[in-house]
Amino acid sequence: MPVEWQRTTMAHLASVYPFHSDVGFGSRGVLMGANVTGGMSGFYFDPFEFYRLQILTNPNMIVMGSVGFGKSATVKALVRRLKAVYGADRYLAVIDPKGEYTAVATDLGLTIVRPRPGGTDRINPMDSGGGDADDSIIARQRLAAQLVVGVLGRDLTPIEDAVLGWAIERRSRSGATFTLRDLRDEISDPPDDLVRISRHSPLELARATTPVAFALDKLCARTLRGMFDGPTTVDIDWAEGPGIVIDLSAVYNNNEALPLVITAATHWLSGALRDRPERRSIQVIEEAWAAVQHGAAYFQASLKLSRLYGIATVFVLHRPSDFTAQTDDGTASSKIAAGLLSDIQTRVLLRQPPEQVAAAAELFDLTERERTWLGQLVPGRAIWHIGSRSAVVQTLLTENEKVLFDTDAGMSGTDDGRFDV
Ligand SMILES: Nc1ncnc2c1ncn2[C@@H]1O[C@H](COP(=O)(O)OP(=O)(O)OP(=O)(O)O)[C@@H](O)[C@H]1O
Ligand SMILES: [Mg+2]
Repeated sequence: MPVEWQRTTMAHLASVYPFHSDVGFGSRGVLMGANVTGGMSGFYFDPFEFYRLQILTNPNMIVMGSVGFGKSATVKALVRRLKAVYGADRYLAVIDPKGEYTAVATDLGLTIVRPRPGGTDRINPMDSGGGDADDSIIARQRLAAQLVVGVLGRDLTPIEDAVLGWAIERRSRSGATFTLRDLRDEISDPPDDLVRISRHSPLELARATTPVAFALDKLCARTLRGMFDGPTTVDIDWAEGPGIVIDLSAVYNNNEALPLVITAATHWLSGALRDRPERRSIQVIEEAWAAVQHGAAYFQASLKLSRLYGIATVFVLHRPSDFTAQTDDGTASSKIAAGLLSDIQTRVLLRQPPEQVAAAAELFDLTERERTWLGQLVPGRAIWHIGSRSAVVQTLLTENEKVLFDTDAGMSGTDDGRFDV
């Protein structure tokens, strides 16, 4: 192409399209779609490859966006393609509160577990799981405290927290499996050694810990009943199997139970995944807003532990306030959100409604341009913040995937061209 000689500055030259384009992220990982800000080149991703290449310092992700803009489809495309390329080296574990992963699970041969009141699939969150014994005890103490806090709606007093912790430690060190029901019984009627270390009289101790005993009783008798209150009944092949989906749709419409059920299921999964650190695992928490809103600090601690064991956690959320609504105190909540976010270096941001854009821009440190884009992104298109870099990516689905991932068959029924590049 004949071009006349021009004298210019680097600043002007850099803005002359099409000669300027992002260098992209390379081709490690799986093809997700088109890099819109990278000249429509292919965009490839795998959290573990990016971690290995030091583009990321942790493999965790959040996927955030308004209802129906393609969060779940993006996650399903990622996990399905990772499975196709890396096979057994990417174990999949999905928390599925809407029961929308059945088709994907069947396609990939994943085991579906369906806890529901009165059902037969039961999960015991007090199972020891794998990995280091102390890690396992601390994780169970944290989970039990989070569940009790969820019921009581307030923080635990020091004596409540201590007694719950001692009871779990004592049971765990005995080596025998125990359940939340056993824990409730132990706290309602504490054994002598527990009374002794508490430095309270039996009566004082009983008084001080009655709220915890009642909360555990409520969890076993109502909130988690028939799902998380007894010994585990499902038999999962963690070593050789392709993965597991925990379908929590039985409690999706129960606003009180859902956060606790998601937290208990996530805890149990992470425990089981710790048993096999030589295989990398992707743990997807769909509709994570329900749990994260109430337990950002719990999830932050859990992410730190997961990293040691090769687990990448993917949180699917709607809006920035999902991170920050758990306390009334603005400073404390934004600190917790910032802490949790510092352990999640890949942020996939789909369209936000106008009233959320400013909060998202602040939370994710968006540039002026990204802030404008965030309110205008078409369905299936997202700003990917990966470590210190970013790209706008259109997720592209195959015809087969469109059918497998469809969550609004009842709404449109056909592909109406909304997702075309
Ligand atoms: N990139 C895409 N290409 C084609 N179809 C898509 C794409 N992304 C999403 N869809 C389709 O759009 C519909 C809604 O997408 P999806 O379920 O992923 O939305 P969501 O953001 O997870 O919504 P919700 O907030 O309700 O969970 C689905 O039927 C899905 O198959
Ligand atoms: Mg979804």
